Amino acid sequence: MTFRQKHLLGISGLHPDEIRTILDLADAHADRNRAGTPHEQVLAGLTQVNMFFENSTRTQASFEIAGKRLGANVMNMAMQASSIKKGETLIDTALTLNAMRPDLLVVRHPHSGAVRLLAEKVNCAVLNAGDGRHEHPTQALLDALTIRREKGRLHRLTIAICGDIAHSRVARSNIHLLGKMGNRIRLIGPPTLIPPGAAEWGVEVFDDMAEGLKGADVVMMLRLQKERMDGAFIPSEREYYHRFGLDAEKLAHAKPDAIVMHPGPMNRGVEIDGTLADDINRSVIQEQVEMGVAVRMAAMELLARNRADAPPEVWA
Ligand code: NCD
Repeated sequence: MTFRQKHLLGISGLHPDEIRTILDLADAHADRNRAGTPHEQVLAGLTQVNMFFENSTRTQASFEIAGKRLGANVMNMAMQASSIKKGETLIDTALTLNAMRPDLLVVRHPHSGAVRLLAEKVNCAVLNAGDGRHEHPTQALLDALTIRREKGRLHRLTIAICGDIAHSRVARSNIHLLGKMGNRIRLIGPPTLIPPGAAEWGVEVFDDMAEGLKGADVVMMLRLQKERMDGAFIPSEREYYHRFGLDAEKLAHAKPDAIVMHPGPMNRGVEIDGTLADDINRSVIQEQVEMGVAVRMAAMELLARNRADAPPEVWA
């Protein structure tokens, strides 16, 4: 087993073997979850604290379920009601929590880099549940597991990531992961939503869905992240849907067996047609959610194992 990390802050610092290790363990957990087989309580006696400074449905719920399935004591901090609202800094909140000796800290924060900063101040394992537009490593891992289970491999696939790339941490983590595993990545979106410099990431960039989807094995749709936009990036949602919204007609340009993915939350009729999103023959959106629990179980298990194996001075 290869996995040497103290924290899971992003995909960019992971070796392909470490990615494979997480996915293999998660795959086994997913089968057990599906069969309803009880899990070994490898997190028993450990305290997991979830700190979400930004809204979340899937990610927070699945981290909680994942921890509980493996026997951890899980606490969800109600950040809306916390002392952050009284002006306490992120670091002071982190130090206060740290004094309570948690073992695993799961953090989502609106600022890129905030989770790493926090990880430097505490002596427990930190998992990044999304920081600004920077990284969302467990999302990329659950996407990878879904693709691997659906396509039977995670290399030499053509994967189109479509929509609001500029504001998306999901896109960034996926580009790192899918690139490391040897796939062909295409970004499709209006030039206003493609970050400057994207052409240097080893990806192909398109502003036309028909062209970009040609021959794709996987079509990954992204939400328009309006909360991160400080101006007008698209003429109108109607116009956006017309040009970039995925429907059966545009999907016909991809391979006949191409799968449709979306990290959620979805805006039906903006970036994706509702009927297509629900089409179980094409859409794997629910499987992504299912794999989310398994991947988070695997990530926390591996970090807890490294923590138990590390000499105490590593965590001092
Ligand atoms: C994403 C996120 O929060 O980055 N959602 C998720 O975690 N499933 C994507 C989004 O908000 O659009």
